[in-house]
Amino acid sequence: MPASLRHLRTLSDPARSSSLSRVAPYPEHDQELPFLQELHGTNKRKTSWRITLKLDRPSPASLVAALLLVVVVVLQLLVYPRLPASFQLFRPAPPPPQPSCPSVPTYNPFVQELYCRAPAHTPGTLYSRSPHSMALAAAAERVAAEFEYPAEQINRAVHEFIREMDEGLETQGATMSQIPTYVTAVPNGTEKGLYMAVDLGGTNFRVCSIQLHGNSTFSLTQSKVKIPHDIMTAKTSHELFSFLAKQIEAFLKTHHEEHYTSHVEKRRRQSYMGKAYHEELEVFSLGFTFSFPVQQSGINKGTLIRWTKGFDIQETIGKDVCALLQKEIDALHLPVRVAALVNDTVGTLMARSYTSPGKTGTLLGAIFGTGTNGAYVEKLSRITKLSKMASKDAGDVDDSTGEMIVNTEWGSFDNHLSVLPVTPYDRSLDAESNNPGIQMFEKRVSGMFLGEILRRAIMDLVRDQSVPLFSDEHSNQNDVHSTTNIHDDSSLYKQWGLDTSFLSIASGDNSVGLKATRQTLDNEYGVSAASAEDAEAVRLIASAIGKRAARLSAVAIAAVVISTGKLGAPKDIATTTTHAGDAEINEDDIVDIGVDGSLVEFYPNFEEYIREALREVPEIGVRGERRIRIGIAKDGSGVGAALIALVADRVGKGPTSPTSPGGAVGGFFQQILEHLNRSVRTRV
Ligand code: GLC
Repeated sequence: MPASLRHLRTLSDPARSSSLSRVAPYPEHDQELPFLQELHGTNKRKTSWRITLKLDRPSPASLVAALLLVVVVVLQLLVYPRLPASFQLFRPAPPPPQPSCPSVPTYNPFVQELYCRAPAHTPGTLYSRSPHSMALAAAAERVAAEFEYPAEQINRAVHEFIREMDEGLETQGATMSQIPTYVTAVPNGTEKGLYMAVDLGGTNFRVCSIQLHGNSTFSLTQSKVKIPHDIMTAKTSHELFSFLAKQIEAFLKTHHEEHYTSHVEKRRRQSYMGKAYHEELEVFSLGFTFSFPVQQSGINKGTLIRWTKGFDIQETIGKDVCALLQKEIDALHLPVRVAALVNDTVGTLMARSYTSPGKTGTLLGAIFGTGTNGAYVEKLSRITKLSKMASKDAGDVDDSTGEMIVNTEWGSFDNHLSVLPVTPYDRSLDAESNNPGIQMFEKRVSGMFLGEILRRAIMDLVRDQSVPLFSDEHSNQNDVHSTTNIHDDSSLYKQWGLDTSFLSIASGDNSVGLKATRQTLDNEYGVSAASAEDAEAVRLIASAIGKRAARLSAVAIAAVVISTGKLGAPKDIATTTTHAGDAEINEDDIVDIGVDGSLVEFYPNFEEYIREALREVPEIGVRGERRIRIGIAKDGSGVGAALIALVADRVGKGPTSPTSPGGAVGGFFQQILEHLNRSVRTRV
């Protein structure tokens, strides 16, 4: 009989299978394959070992082995807690998740978890047993549950995100713009010099000067003004850009008075002595952080594609914003040259790379603030649209590093809503915005919109007669006033009337009876004498909106990490263990990400929620998530813009060009050589 048949028969023969428990070897199994012999206990070597242990008198060698084993076990038990974890044979199981959650009045795990995260006063317990209070709790939970964003939706979104990233690298005008920035290297911390930067991108306009010390540190002087609403929506570009130039002038007069006066003096001499007189003017190189979608065609050239975040000056669209700013700076005769045009995400990436610990270069700079967006280091060969661009749109590409920073403009991810979650509040917010159908991802993630989503959710409940929110009758824990009401002029009745900072206050409220939330409602939003139950309901919804935003943010981060292949095989498997199961990651395996913006900075647990979601993406998982280092790049856009101005200077200035104050400019070729030698830290 052929051997294979014999095996089949042997395995299916009940008589034989019952004989497996016998200790004696089975001669009829002699011809079995080795793995079957092991299975049946008929592997000769194994069998004799078992018999020796059981039946023979123990040999001295086995006695010594047994003794040694006992000693090791006893030692482990005695000195176990003091042993470094890598020497411990038996590692304790990681502690089970804290059952920090009190019994809360809901069966929805998502909502339950939101109650659990909220600290201090046993969450969910401010409701009373009255029917009205229970109705309020139920209504708040129903609304909170609408913001649930489960793992499978995250994963679908990650795949769509990667598809849109690829599309944007290939074609102009794709949903996700994937804008080439012409910045082809990231700094390594050794750069030096005094530079200026301005930052336009949200509520404020910042002007700063930055002294780079060359040792990963810098000093920054800055001034900040709120941009008046009428300037954000002005008729002409001149109104906006002359306002910006005036702020630069005021800054120079205040913080660099000597330099400013000497410049004015030199200019006066020049105009007095005529053209023949030449005196070198010392001109600041300025990095212009302009955080809107711009079609860049060079390091200091770029035309505005569209306005976002509440700005709306139609005349500027299609114009070169660097030229517009330079024109107004020149009109005021300021010693400033706009050397680089920078998106805030690119600045964040550069700044993080300059300051981040260790030698790992940064992969991604991301903003989760008024708006949201990310810029990352991409292989030049993957930005195939560069070669297809008409020469008027494409600038000169320095291909020495083989890579370029790409500004994704991910705020417009999934504008067609194929994977993004949609609640009634998202829908009405978009419909009533000044750019419906655009920036759909941003409208669910960023600070400009989260407050408005919450306001809409709250006002829906207020208008619903069956829900007792902010209604005196049920405010059983009022301790200041007796009547709860929303004042007629409360900003809650107005579009954009609820600031996103309120989400952070409510979600992180630790005070007894949620006093901080109630006081803010009273002082800022004209809701007098809100009850603790009201605050509980508001907080639950606020937390759900914040958590969804963080989980959506994880989609973008995961997609960039996966699509750049940064989590490929770790160079070395982690070996050092700090505490139970918490292995250290090798520096080489770290994927560094720089972030900035009010949400990551102030929203409670924002990073933790992001990390939780990253672990739910199979291509990242627990192990990959631990290799991702997320660090705040505070003031990133200012420092980053200065760094790009520096790189632009090095490439763009000849020996006869004006000198950057404080930055010693050597020969042009030496500059290029130095630049190539030391400023490229990461090559992807
Ligand atoms: C908006 C802008 C983008 C910017 C982001 C963060 O999405 O379009 O350019 O980076 O906000 O400020």
